[in-house]
Amino acid sequence: MKRFRTRAVHAGQRPDPLTGAHATPVYSTSTFAYGSFERGARLFEGEEAGFIYSRIGNPTVRAFEEKMASLEGAEDAVAFSSGMAAVSALAFTLLRPGDEVVYLAPLYGGTEGFFLETLQKFGVIATDAGDVERLEARLSPATRLIYLETPTNPNLCIYDLAEVARVARAHGILSCVDNTFATPYLTRPLEFGIDLVLHSATKYLGGHGDALGGVLAGPKELIDAVRMEGLRHLGGALGAFEAFLLLRGLKTLPLRMEAHCAGALRVAEYLAKHPTVRRVHYPGLPSHPGHAVARRQMQGFGGLVSLELPSREAAGAFLNSLELFTQAVSLGDVESLATHPASTTHQLLEPALRERHGITEGLVRLSIGIEDPDDLIADLEQALERATATTLVDS
Ligand SMILES: Cc1ncc(COP(=O)(O)O)c(C=O)c1O
Repeated sequence: MKRFRTRAVHAGQRPDPLTGAHATPVYSTSTFAYGSFERGARLFEGEEAGFIYSRIGNPTVRAFEEKMASLEGAEDAVAFSSGMAAVSALAFTLLRPGDEVVYLAPLYGGTEGFFLETLQKFGVIATDAGDVERLEARLSPATRLIYLETPTNPNLCIYDLAEVARVARAHGILSCVDNTFATPYLTRPLEFGIDLVLHSATKYLGGHGDALGGVLAGPKELIDAVRMEGLRHLGGALGAFEAFLLLRGLKTLPLRMEAHCAGALRVAEYLAKHPTVRRVHYPGLPSHPGHAVARRQMQGFGGLVSLELPSREAAGAFLNSLELFTQAVSLGDVESLATHPASTTHQLLEPALRERHGITEGLVRLSIGIEDPDDLIADLEQALERATATTLVDS
């Protein structure tokens, strides 16, 4: 098998058989001609492989799926119109009324909201196990799926994938990791015994903030089941143009991730020394509680850094003063972004739940882009001066 960087460029893509086009064309078509009555019947019987209708398969989308399966070391992958479309397709395919999802909080707020509100309407229970140490004790005969992110959104906890996989396998329960923050360049959960990997492709996989997408990778049998039920029936199909953008983004994933990781480490080290910053969350800092596990299971510590300022007002002053960072949700773009999780991405969660997950009013999440880290640090420096002034007025 070729190495990761080579697969990022080549996997899933070959010159177009019809025209020789070197870049994978955008197959912008809803349907595909069978050619004959007999072939149509064979396609629908599954006796012949081929494209039928773009909601369940499209050549540009298929190239993206094949590249992702290769990068995650999975048998197969299925793409979606967004990360949430992937989460919901997975859940509605695998779970039945009375089943339980046990998850390790915190999760992306939309995912936790979907588990606690939407799935509950369909009789599925979602339980936060708290941490890996308590995971085994929290499982019940109804537990069908263990779900987690690592690093977590937004405060970058690290969970031990080998331990989660051990528990899941010992109890015959499926495990799924949302690998959006790490990307397969930094962590490949299947190598640790996890069953399924999910991504919001909107983030680092695309990398340029111009496409929404999602993907699920794992054993062919499970991927086929999710394609034929969760994708076909819920309909959250990835568009061909978005697939084209994601394919282009993936070619530079290794290069971008190196730059994101190097910049984030510099920023985290700078913030850790700043007197107004109460705490920095970055798995690359030796002081981070998950540092040793991160060293074991990550090939770099990622591009997200969270910092705690003394108050919501200080966080607001800091964010309003940033010039290079854009105040916006999302992450993983080449441009640096900054957000206040308590009032944005995690605003729908009950305040008590936010507090329990460590999403404080002073917490700010930075997505470090690929700009020169010296320029980013200069921007943070001047914004922290404003935040410090707010703190002095408050006290
Ligand atoms: C870790 C994580 N998973 C899933 C999602 C949902 O993805 P999407 O916005 O593509 O639906 C997000 C979105 O921010 C996320 O950060």
